[in-house]
Amino acid sequence: MSEPVQLETLVMKIVADARLHARWLNTFSFMEYIGFRKIVKSQLAEQMTAQILSHAMEEGRHALGLKKLAMKLGGSDFDSYAPETMICPEAAETYIQTLDKTCEAQFAALPDTDRSRLTYLYVTWLIEKRALEVYNVYKALLPQKDIVAKLEGLLMEEGRHLQDVEAAMTSKDRQFKERADLLQPQEEAIYSIFLGHLAEALQPAAAAA
Ligand SMILES: [Fe+2]
Ligand SMILES: [Fe+2]
Repeated sequence: MSEPVQLETLVMKIVADARLHARWLNTFSFMEYIGFRKIVKSQLAEQMTAQILSHAMEEGRHALGLKKLAMKLGGSDFDSYAPETMICPEAAETYIQTLDKTCEAQFAALPDTDRSRLTYLYVTWLIEKRALEVYNVYKALLPQKDIVAKLEGLLMEEGRHLQDVEAAMTSKDRQFKERADLLQPQEEAIYSIFLGHLAEALQPAAAAA
């Protein structure tokens, strides 16, 4: 059996190389952008609340902030989501889409409004927990203090999103514990596939491509 991929090892490799680092930042910008787009589309207009709208806007702002950092490190080439400006973008998108489908499948029997509300809450909850973990590992290994300062603001907002959805879930979903216990290991499996693709993309031959 192969060793589990350590995120720390990958991040150390990434931050040591400016172009790779710019590609990493743009990949996370891309994921934030997908999150922004998904939140906007996830709700029927009649149940779009101020809290959900502000969550979407903040994810959009994270996408922009990370892209600006990517451009600062890598130049104007990074002013797009062209595949070569990211690291394993397909795997990054697959992580989010698979997680979304997995959660939605749990609520398949419910009416549309309940299904979209619960899918939004669980997908957000799982992604925010993962994002906090990944951004914290990245922050701890970052040599650039200006990027650390930008990440602090982003982390604060992600932490608040997590608290907001957790509060909504624990107050409105009586099956929270069972559903969380069921979905969390599934997210872990989906994330480890993403990590495997990330490690593969950072192999010397692939990284030089
Ligand atoms: Fe975000
Ligand atoms: Fe968030």
